[in-house]
Amino acid sequence: MTEHVKTEIDAGIMTLTLARADKKNALSNAMYSALSDGLERAEKDPAIRVVLFQGDGDSFTAGNDVADFSAQATGKDTGEPQAHRFISNLGKATRPLVAAVQGNAVGVGTTMLLHCDLVFLADTAKLMTPFVNLALVPEAASSWLMPARIGYVRAYAMFALGEPLDAASALACGLANAVVPVADLRAKARAAAEALTQRPAGALNHTKALMRDMDKIAAQISREGALFRERLQTSEAREAFAAFAERRKPDFSKFAG
Ligand code: COA
Repeated sequence: MTEHVKTEIDAGIMTLTLARADKKNALSNAMYSALSDGLERAEKDPAIRVVLFQGDGDSFTAGNDVADFSAQATGKDTGEPQAHRFISNLGKATRPLVAAVQGNAVGVGTTMLLHCDLVFLADTAKLMTPFVNLALVPEAASSWLMPARIGYVRAYAMFALGEPLDAASALACGLANAVVPVADLRAKARAAAEALTQRPAGALNHTKALMRDMDKIAAQISREGALFRERLQTSEAREAFAAFAERRKPDFSKFAG
């Protein structure tokens, strides 16, 4: 249990709200676990027809808690990593997933959107996947889904250079359905989720299954996951996490090319 994810079920919609605004909704192990519990429950509970993700505060999420990455890298973390469970639940979700995104959506905050069926951005949204800056590799099947969605060179610039996409650019390259003023974001996403609850669930289910190759997604998630775990243990990654903690630029020049 964590107070940092609020789970509400109302009128066929499960709303999962990231509620750790003071840390820009950075995702801790406990938060991933709560999100996974929600997705697993949504799959089983016929009263839940749609899942809606949103975040409190000025950022959707700053991505994985970098302190948790660091603990995993130095072997201090003894807990079961829940990020993989969340990612694999996203990959196999059959319920429609809707997202309302304001401000920063970093790392998994962006890659999870590739698994959402409807995505609404506030005009403040900024999508970033700086995996290489952290000496890591893309996850959540984004190494396959992102270039397929937005084109190879744009995806490469996001992954390798950490180049952010603002809301208008994200809309233009097909990562979102609409950009709205931040004050209207939740109402817009909620209305879309409500519209989905009115559609026949069986037809929605088949439509999603036809549109997404779940086996290929699962295979890519596991390929990426193996590399990701390996990368966490590298001296490049330790330097990146130490630099984040010390609020300095990382120095990768000492590691061989
Ligand atoms: N993990 C842990 N803590 C995080 C975090 C993260 N991913 N992102 C932000 N925080 C914390 C900061 O350390 C800070 O904590 P403090 O107030 O105790 O010092 C607080 O959240 C506010 O963050 P700050 O950096 O001051 O906010 P900002 O508005 O200047 O910048 C971001 C926001 C998201 C651009 C910036 O925090 C950032 O780049 N975070 C790291 C993102 C990242 O690399 N995630 C991993 C992706 S794979």
